[in-house]
Amino acid sequence: MADSGLSARTVVVTGAGSGIGRAAALRFAQEGAKVLVADLNAEGAKETVAEIEKAGGTAVAVVGDLSLPEVVTEVVSTAVDTLGGLDVLVNNAGIMDRMSAAADIDDAEWERVLRINLTAPFQLTRAALPHMLKAGKGAIVFTASEASLRGSAAGTAYTVSKHGIAGLTKSLAVMYRDQGIRTNAIAPGGTATAIKVDAQADAHGPAVIGSYAKNIGRPAKPEEQAAAIVFLASDAASNINGVILPVDNGWSAV
Ligand SMILES: NC(=O)c1ccc[n+]([C@@H]2O[C@H](COP(=O)([O-])OP(=O)(O)OC[C@H]3O[C@@H](n4cnc5c(N)ncnc54)[C@H](O)[C@@H]3O)[C@@H](O)[C@H]2O)c1
Repeated sequence: MADSGLSARTVVVTGAGSGIGRAAALRFAQEGAKVLVADLNAEGAKETVAEIEKAGGTAVAVVGDLSLPEVVTEVVSTAVDTLGGLDVLVNNAGIMDRMSAAADIDDAEWERVLRINLTAPFQLTRAALPHMLKAGKGAIVFTASEASLRGSAAGTAYTVSKHGIAGLTKSLAVMYRDQGIRTNAIAPGGTATAIKVDAQADAHGPAVIGSYAKNIGRPAKPEEQAAAIVFLASDAASNINGVILPVDNGWSAV
């Protein structure tokens, strides 16, 4: 297999204090990359950094809510000033919705889900791009979702946010391919993480979604998602650009 090329590269992973993001951060560090762990959860971020350092790797944490512009700025400046660059951006942090259908979504839920799942990754990407453009290379990986591919995997707000991520992935892939920047996404199916769904079981949305649950198949381990993220960011994927890769044990094939 081709060299991953990740050794000594600087990788930003959002949501790296838990689940898929943590598994990706650990995997990048194993490849020799320097990792910036960005998360709202200080404890989780600290644990990820400690685990990387214990294994002999290099990591630094930025703790804060990525939907705040000052946190986005801090992530990019810390990567550049403390770790020496920004070669790979993994936009992974995200939240679930309440599985609600449109008539039951209030503005607060809509805005929160869209802000954290779509606007924040866009803003972080916008802040990272000048550094990649200056370097003439870069790789961006989004954690999209099965809900980027279909309407039966989550509520309407989450589904819209993750379809937005698919559009962002494809647009970036086209807009920046001639500048040496590749953009791809994984689309996880059900994955065993700490992500919370605060759904009312008897509401319309959760009842509809529940009727499709049998198609999900075996839940993935976070490490199985991380392997795909690291592959897409690596030189082994050097001609892969604009792909939404399902990592879902065949759910999207049903
Ligand atoms: N677990 C699944 O079944 C599944 C399926 C499809 C897609 N996903 C996507 O995978 C990604 C990672 O989720 P996970 O399953 O590992 O969940 P998780 O809850 O274990 O991890 C998500 C991390 O993101 C952080 N985070 C959330 N909002 C943030 C914010 N505003 N600012 C900074 N950090 C924030 C959380 O603190 C948490 O540590 C999400 O984008 C999610 O939508 C998960």
